[in-house]
Amino acid sequence: MTIPLFEDVGAVATAEPAVPPDAEGFALNGVWHPLPADPSLRLLDHLRTDLRQFGTKEGCRQGDCGSCTVLVDGEARYACLVPVGQVAGRSVVTVEGIAAGTQCGGRLQQAFLAHQAVQCGFCTPGMLLASAAAIDAGRVTDRASARDAIDGVLCRCTGYQKIVDAVTEVGCGVAPWPCTLPPGQGPAVGVPLTRLDGPEKVDGSQHFGADGWPVGSLVLRAVRSPHHRARFTFGDIDGWRAAHPGVRRVLTHADVPGLNLHGVATPYADQPVLAVDETRHYLEAVALIVGEPEAMMALDLQRFPVTWEPLTPVLTVDDATQDDSPVLHAARPDNILIEGLVRRGDAAAGLRDARYVASATFTSSFVEHAYLEPEAGWAQRVGDRVEIHSSTQAPHPHRADLARILGVAPERVRVVATAVGGGFGGKLDMSVQPWLALAAWHVDGPIGMVFSREESMATSTKRHPARIVSTMAADADGRLCAVEFDGDYNTGAFASWGTAVANRVPVHAGGPYVIPHYLAHSRAVHTHITPAGAFRGFGVPQTMMSQEQLIDELAHQAGIDPLEFRAMNALRAGDSLPTGQVLDQSVGLTECLDALRPAWREARARIATRNASAPGPLRYGVGIAAFFYGCGNTALPNPSTVRFGVRPDGTIVLHQGAVDAGQGANTVIPQIAADALGVPVDRLHIVGPDTHLTPDCGRTSASRQTFITGRAAFLAGTALRQQLLRLANAPADATISAHADGLRIEGRPLDLRARPADAHGYAVAAEESFDPPITALDDAGQGNPYATYAFGAQMAEVLVDCESGRVRVLKVVAAHDVGRMVNPTLLEGQVEGAVAQGVGLALMEQYHPGKHNNLHDYLIPTVHDMPEVRAIFIEAPTALGPYGAKGIGEPALVPTAAAILNAIHDATGVRIRQAPATPDVVRRALDGCMTDGVRARGSDHVHH
Ligand code: FES
Repeated sequence: MTIPLFEDVGAVATAEPAVPPDAEGFALNGVWHPLPADPSLRLLDHLRTDLRQFGTKEGCRQGDCGSCTVLVDGEARYACLVPVGQVAGRSVVTVEGIAAGTQCGGRLQQAFLAHQAVQCGFCTPGMLLASAAAIDAGRVTDRASARDAIDGVLCRCTGYQKIVDAVTEVGCGVAPWPCTLPPGQGPAVGVPLTRLDGPEKVDGSQHFGADGWPVGSLVLRAVRSPHHRARFTFGDIDGWRAAHPGVRRVLTHADVPGLNLHGVATPYADQPVLAVDETRHYLEAVALIVGEPEAMMALDLQRFPVTWEPLTPVLTVDDATQDDSPVLHAARPDNILIEGLVRRGDAAAGLRDARYVASATFTSSFVEHAYLEPEAGWAQRVGDRVEIHSSTQAPHPHRADLARILGVAPERVRVVATAVGGGFGGKLDMSVQPWLALAAWHVDGPIGMVFSREESMATSTKRHPARIVSTMAADADGRLCAVEFDGDYNTGAFASWGTAVANRVPVHAGGPYVIPHYLAHSRAVHTHITPAGAFRGFGVPQTMMSQEQLIDELAHQAGIDPLEFRAMNALRAGDSLPTGQVLDQSVGLTECLDALRPAWREARARIATRNASAPGPLRYGVGIAAFFYGCGNTALPNPSTVRFGVRPDGTIVLHQGAVDAGQGANTVIPQIAADALGVPVDRLHIVGPDTHLTPDCGRTSASRQTFITGRAAFLAGTALRQQLLRLANAPADATISAHADGLRIEGRPLDLRARPADAHGYAVAAEESFDPPITALDDAGQGNPYATYAFGAQMAEVLVDCESGRVRVLKVVAAHDVGRMVNPTLLEGQVEGAVAQGVGLALMEQYHPGKHNNLHDYLIPTVHDMPEVRAIFIEAPTALGPYGAKGIGEPALVPTAAAILNAIHDATGVRIRQAPATPDVVRRALDGCMTDGVRARGSDHVHH
């Protein structure tokens, strides 16, 4: 995949929609189309399947997400809910025609680019059309009406703030904010460069996993268990198939040519491609059906010949850890996937000798990723190779798994990453990929698969629910002296990333503080639930909701301002972690707290005044939470490799295999590489993630791509530069410039045409890897599990209605040490999007396994739930990172929910020990305190 650099897409539209010649058709983007034979067909299906207009996205098919918003005679409508017969004689505008088909569409596209209102881009077509309808109707006159314009469209990535900026700008007719173009000279690192892959996101041409399947593709569907746990037997599959003419093939586990297992567990993978004899979670698949699209749409899978014998499942950690609990994996007879431990000093003695002690039991819920793009992709056999095009955060690791499943060498599997419509950790695991590979192995021709929203929510990985019992203690001066932590994490049926959670949490459970006596223990426990896996933070955000409340309680007990308490105990360069690791550089926490202090003091004073005069049940509060977060895998190798080459004609090509799931790798990695080579970033031709074309850049996870792949890109750029300068006999500071007729060094042409090209077609090339230095943890959890850490703190202001228990987050100020800002606007976008997910984690998101697998029962924040967000960036560079940079993707989310819960306490005097803090949870907490007669500020108990 070559990523095109952006051009101005913002031509102001003047064209009128085509006038329909009769009522038996409709105008689509000004072009007349006859109606299909079936007028009850959904407009969405007609656009995507019949007309191959893939800009209109299918996120839920239920009118919940708004991704399929189109204009019908200028009004925003969900195409999934509109029968195509209803548009007879009318004009339909989709994102492909928005510039010409609306008055403001071109300017909106440009504003979305300029404000960086686009991350993954999956919601973008719907956002553009919803806002265009409102602007053209004159309904957008300020920020509030801009928010109203888009409140029917969900975005899981951006936090909406920059979208509202763009819509307000165009709606209010203010001077347009310009795109930030690649600098012609000077460094690109540090520049808020407009996303290089932005244009294809705003014009609808970017292909996600369900887009652009080859014409004639067959379709794959899965037969799934309707029970949490069941034994099953197949009936007459051949007879059933014979009765369904469009069905080409039915596949079961017996058709897997290699290993019927995949996943990241060690020492062995544990998730079956297709279940054998017994299913272990709701909607686990037992068979696959490949067939013609129409026949597959018409199939009633309830009638597939399989007999279920429901068995009693275990759904909670307690139920799964009884002596007679059913065992999910023979190799784990106690249902414990893994235990993590970090021990230092003598925690029991530290607690005994402490002056102030705070203890709590805290629980949190399963949380759904709710990326707007459901899992999707297509595959086909090409020669002796199987090629899988899919939405993935991990192309090379998936290739390795798929090769084992097919029983072939990895070279016989090619994984091409499509655009990814949000991942947040959920697309690290395989979903459609093994089934597509298996189907392509057995059936000729291209085959596609896309999960329904129900399948996506019921079977994708979740954030682990936590049950935490923890005690933290401080001495008479308010210095932290001990932590004792025990956390259980429900990891579901298969390992997924439960190991990573159980290993990461004990390292981080004490927070970013100096703690001499420390004991942190965790368990990941199997249950009959879809696996809990990686979700932005690997267990740390939910853990911090417990731990940072305890820190607050200690501060209150000691009579020290919560921010100052954190500053006093904060890790500084030279301090040791509970793992024994000495932090010798890049520790910017105190600077983050310093940056927050003015806003904190101002908010505290303002809120005290406001509450003194606030009548009725409304109470304001402000809370703070600090964090640290290790960038990269925990105590495991973590390499990335980047290839950089110059063709004989002077074309410079960067092969970067880091998947951009919306976070910006497609822009940030080229910024770093261009500076290392010493050319403007728009001189680079970029080849994106494809196991056939790009070296392994590892997974887009653990906040590692900017830090690790960025460093590999820096090394490759530096090595390529040195080779070019050597060839030209030029000094180290010589300029390199790229022109249509080739490269010039110090203005002199460098003719590469005579040089033999390597296997990749390059006259000069460099391939460099970076694997950050870490060490394994010993039995006591001692070692250096990460090469560098992100630090930061966030403060949240809330308004609590003590009568209803409803909490509204008004403002978040977030200070983050990012090492070095590579692209400040993309960093802001990460923070704003993370705050949105933090609001959901703290206040509303609660996934009930097997239930509510849709986006109207499972609620994620809309634009109206979002607070004002202000991001502050601190640069405490790490010598290991590219130009000093560290990660931001997960760090930005880690403290948000904790700060919100502390703000609720500030407002009400009650501690929330259960997340999410839905109105009923807050009400119960308030009622409990009322009953105890201690509903007042400072109700934290003091232990001497
Ligand atoms: Fe909105 Fe990803 S940018 S869902």
